[in-house]
Amino acid sequence: RIFPDSEQASVQVARELAAFIRQRAQEGRPAVLGLATGSSPTRVYEELVRLHREEGLSFQNVVSFNLDEYFPMAPDSLQSYVRFMREYLFDHIDIKPENVHIPDGTVPADQVAEFCRRYEEQIREAGGIDWQLLGIGRTGHIGFNEPGSGAASRTRLITLDHITRTDAASDFYGEENVPRRAITMGVGTILEARHIVLLAWGEGKAAVIKRMVEGEPTDTVPATYLQHHPAVQAVLDEAAAAEL
Ligand code: GLP
Repeated sequence: RIFPDSEQASVQVARELAAFIRQRAQEGRPAVLGLATGSSPTRVYEELVRLHREEGLSFQNVVSFNLDEYFPMAPDSLQSYVRFMREYLFDHIDIKPENVHIPDGTVPADQVAEFCRRYEEQIREAGGIDWQLLGIGRTGHIGFNEPGSGAASRTRLITLDHITRTDAASDFYGEENVPRRAITMGVGTILEARHIVLLAWGEGKAAVIKRMVEGEPTDTVPATYLQHHPAVQAVLDEAAAAEL
């Protein structure tokens, strides 16, 4: 779906997400959301906050699972995804704290595998992810599934690609400060979501969007595996769609 600009696209995605949350609330059921960080979804989150404040959208029935977190990472650190989610969304809505799940960047290294196993179990216990929001990295990563991540990969510790660390350098005041690793849901975990919406804005994403949509599915561009999913949408602005 190609929109004239990211503003209109983001507002539309937020409306659709809000409609889903409300529909589930009417049915007395939870809405299980997979959430993303990065610059792409920020305007969607702002719009959800506005809908909460001005139109009474409640998040009491929402259960959330974030895609990823740097490792190691303290939750109160400027660059942590825990902090990001609080600033853009969780501090401004009525989601129940016990329903929020974000990979824990403070787990001791020898316990990460067990943490990841438990994260997958929690997603299953919640009934699986209904609605997964995604961004895309210039390497073709979704979550932090860098090139080499297979279609069946699960939540795990991964090593960040050099390009990803370059892209994150300004957030960390220099590439040398960017963590070398991260915990991420796997490609397989993401593909189990019932509905997936990937957001991409700007000319910097045009080349990877072309590869994602038109390239053969391959682990060198993990986002190409989304082609196998029965209910996925790429929501783009005109600049990100320019090479299609
Ligand atoms: C990070 C996140 C990804 C995100 C990507 C793109 O690597 N871990 O989940 O999709 O950045 O970020 P942006 O939306 O800022 O382009």
